[in-house]
Amino acid sequence: MEQQTEKKKIVFSAIQPSGTITLGNYLGAIKNWVSMQDEFNCIYALADLHTITVRQEPAKFRKNVTDAYASILACGIDPEKSLFFIQSHVTTHAQLAWLLNCYTQFGELSRMTQFKDKSAKHADNVNAGLFTYPALMAADILLYQADMVPVGADQKQHLELTRNVAERFNGLYGNVFKVPEPFIPKNGARVMSLQDPTRKMSKSDENVNSFVTLMDSPEVIMKKFKRAVTDSEAVVRYAEGKDGINNLMGIYSAVTGLSFEQIEKDFEGRGYGDFKTAVGEAVVEELRPVRERYEKYIADKSYMQECYKKSAEIAQKFSQRTLDKAMKKIGFVF
Ligand code: TYM
Repeated sequence: MEQQTEKKKIVFSAIQPSGTITLGNYLGAIKNWVSMQDEFNCIYALADLHTITVRQEPAKFRKNVTDAYASILACGIDPEKSLFFIQSHVTTHAQLAWLLNCYTQFGELSRMTQFKDKSAKHADNVNAGLFTYPALMAADILLYQADMVPVGADQKQHLELTRNVAERFNGLYGNVFKVPEPFIPKNGARVMSLQDPTRKMSKSDENVNSFVTLMDSPEVIMKKFKRAVTDSEAVVRYAEGKDGINNLMGIYSAVTGLSFEQIEKDFEGRGYGDFKTAVGEAVVEELRPVRERYEKYIADKSYMQECYKKSAEIAQKFSQRTLDKAMKKIGFVF
């Protein structure tokens, strides 16, 4: 890894282990994490420190972390190629987050739409961590001098904040942090709810038919797509106002690689029933090997432990260099 960093660009991304992983997470982020592994030096994490900004039940939280680790290995993250660790195992994240908190403005944080959404949703627990969450996310990324951050569109604002904080810090102290670029896919960056396609697909949605998870059975996936909300035009075409069909086309395109023009051609003169079946089947086939491999990993806790411990050890050393550099620049005594 250390030798390669000189040649290959560095990729960093993370996901919160806060329950089941959705098709949105998969198409918006994880599918790209997997495909970037050969070309880049990839570093991925389960952002468990971020997860406690919303109250967690301890036993369930512990289980969610192991489940998420197995699921992401099952998606194709290969610990021989990439680092894949649990954020709280690498102490530099919380440390740099504190420093960056002191270089992030109240006004900037107040503008974050995720904070506004989450504080409305959890009105009884608008804690300081929820507010300063983007500074921790900036620390995650900047610790590794990441060039690229593969994320869904909903994280774009946090990435912009990360860039601003990095530039501000570099402006004061010289080149300490690499200023990262977001990597947002053309299709799949914003997978919408199957029940209300004007809203983002989210695992916290009360209506389970609105999202597909990596662990849904083929029957459940088909049922959810057949029930997906569309419109009354009965023409498969991408157009303004056709949010449901646009969403299904985006999912189908992200999974199959077909362009929108090709999809429109293939489904010319055919109804929504056919199209929904095709999208459902494509998703079932995409996720079938993931579910199968998940069973293998979740049954082998010691293998997973070996993987995340080894990755965390390397990540700790690598990130310590950035943390030390930042602290020296600020003027801490060494
Ligand atoms: P999280 O856990 O909410 O989501 C993980 C990834 O999935 C993407 N995503 C989606 N993409 C398309 N359509 C959707 N409906 C959809 N829902 C979620 C997200 O954009 C994300 O890429 N703060 C981050 C986790 C994080 C992080 C980081 C990410 C912590 N530190 C450093 C990048 C770099 C989050 O809560 O993602």
